[in-house]
Amino acid sequence: MDHILIKGGYVVDPITNTSDYLDILIEKGKIKKIGKDIKPFAGCQVIDAKDCIVSPSFTDIHVHFRDPGQTYKEDIRTGSMAAVAGGYTTVVCMPNTLPALDDASLIRYVIEKGEEVGLCRVLPAGAITKGRRGKELTEMSLLKDAGAVYFTDDGAPVMDSHIMRKAMEFAGSIGSFVADHCEDLSLSKDGVAHEGEIAAALGLPPLPPEAEDTMIARDCVLSLHTGMPVHICHLSTKVGVEIVTWAKAMGAKVTAEVTPHHLYLTDEEWLDFDCKAKVSPPLREHEDIEAVRWALASGIIDFVATDHAPHAHQEKMMEHHACPPGMIGLQFALPIVLELVRKDYFDINRAIEVLSTKPAEKIGLKPPQIKEGEVAELTIFDPTESWEVTEDVIYSKSKNTPLLGRKLIGKVKYTFYNGKIVYKD
Ligand code: DOR
Ligand code: ZN
Repeated sequence: MDHILIKGGYVVDPITNTSDYLDILIEKGKIKKIGKDIKPFAGCQVIDAKDCIVSPSFTDIHVHFRDPGQTYKEDIRTGSMAAVAGGYTTVVCMPNTLPALDDASLIRYVIEKGEEVGLCRVLPAGAITKGRRGKELTEMSLLKDAGAVYFTDDGAPVMDSHIMRKAMEFAGSIGSFVADHCEDLSLSKDGVAHEGEIAAALGLPPLPPEAEDTMIARDCVLSLHTGMPVHICHLSTKVGVEIVTWAKAMGAKVTAEVTPHHLYLTDEEWLDFDCKAKVSPPLREHEDIEAVRWALASGIIDFVATDHAPHAHQEKMMEHHACPPGMIGLQFALPIVLELVRKDYFDINRAIEVLSTKPAEKIGLKPPQIKEGEVAELTIFDPTESWEVTEDVIYSKSKNTPLLGRKLIGKVKYTFYNGKIVYKD
């Protein structure tokens, strides 16, 4: 159908500074008209958006789609389906695949697969070091030319500070940036759960928060001295928030993301000994959660990234030391962020900023906008609809999340990508 009319929705767009009940007429994929009370006409598909919010669609700069090498956990098609069901139309795939994305041909492979699936924009991050072994830098400019949007060895830190410094300088000099999985492996050792009362009570190997904090501090200092950008992946601690606050005040080009699970779940998830709670960095304590929530509200943490990390059922059933860390997240980010709006940490405008505008800007994309003349790239969601997380409603190939069986509030109804409906509830 050439014409689609989205009627009666509450439009929120931080870029165009819109918060109002408006109708949106889409013609051949482009936003033709935005206004009050646009009348439907013959041959026009009408979407009733009453009680819904219409926003620019979301961008997640941190997902694991496991292709190449581990497509039994996820592939680019199932990952894309989970993305659009979560309201996302741009995702950045992490390079901790098998083999690692350390070569231009592999970068192109991910982009081509993503385009073939065609549900959303699938972009790759390139590895910082060859094979993610932390020893030798990749050919970053070749990877960037092939389409890598930034560089990270995620899943593992860059332990060698000299290499990290060179990586920051090189990535910065070609107009890109590095993102670090902040974990000092000599401190995290065999730790499984956040070092605190729960790990002690359950006898789980403790993983101290300073494993993350010291690396965040190192990266901030390197960024300050080199004048080059660094992005902190999945920030999860209250001390980490303080360090980033300091670095930003000093003028360092530091940005940070937080995951939905670190905003919502604590180490109490371990109480039933289920390794679905195992994730890296680990789920923390109430005080940390409060700190990252307020940091997201204030802008110290720049945006949300899911770290969507699918693992197969058999893998998550293994004993705690053998089980791989990670949980899926693409379909839960919106309801978790909306929960923070309901609890008055920030308003709906900031919610859309941290899901859509800010992450898109970070990777140099023009953020989607709800504006006449723009291609329709938007998400329609009901902010009050309650739904239960069950395996059936999860589009990801893997179902590893401690949220199974719980109710969330806020449901995506439609996602538009490149002018087309790519998801309908
Ligand atoms: O929990 C995690 N899982 N953290 C990471 O950094 C990597 C990820 C994965 O690849 O499974
Ligand atoms: Zn990750």
